[in-house]
Amino acid sequence: MPAPLPAHLEVAPGALWFREALDREAQAALLADIRAVLEEAPLFTPAMPRTGKPFSVRMSNCGPLGWVSDAAGYRYQPFHPNTRAPWPAMPPALAALWTTYAAVPAPPEACLINYYGPDARMSLHQDRDEADFTAPVLALSLGDTALFRIGGETRGGATRSIRLASGDIFLLSGPSRLAFHGIDRILPGTSTLLAEGGRFNLTLRRVNPAT
Ligand code: SIN
Ligand code: FE2
Repeated sequence: MPAPLPAHLEVAPGALWFREALDREAQAALLADIRAVLEEAPLFTPAMPRTGKPFSVRMSNCGPLGWVSDAAGYRYQPFHPNTRAPWPAMPPALAALWTTYAAVPAPPEACLINYYGPDARMSLHQDRDEADFTAPVLALSLGDTALFRIGGETRGGATRSIRLASGDIFLLSGPSRLAFHGIDRILPGTSTLLAEGGRFNLTLRRVNPAT
């Protein structure tokens, strides 16, 4: 029998909020893992498809696949768009969180690393570049608190805003796997975890069907 999920709030059906899932020590350890990844695969500035307008969020990835965006479109690819090197391996601590919280037997294939400076935001969107929507998307917050907005599966529907703090885990699963979501803004100075300030959000995904 699968282990029961840790304590959480169900914000909408399948949208699960695990507040303070990671204590400070676990957050610091994950941050060290992410800093090591970024030495090999530096943050890059993605651009919007067609317009080429730069994102305010900077990104990198680890794991076999990484999500990228440029004038050619959104996609997953096995290498960094600037260095062309394969993405660094998924840190074992991240894979372990996937086992506990996502509760699917197949390992995550991509970890998207988003870095939000004081003025960064992410407009409402769906995570739908994966070939399979059975597995959830697991998001982990490190650093300054973010105002996270979540709605339903259709654009323009009702939304609600919650504050994701450092150490929180959020799961988009089941009926909320394709929910619209975004970051209205971050609240600078709300965490001391990152010396430089700002926020990392790590999202673990499956890209291919877990056969
Ligand atoms: C995302 O949708 O990729 C980011 C969500 C977040 O930063 O919490
Ligand atoms: Fe997303």
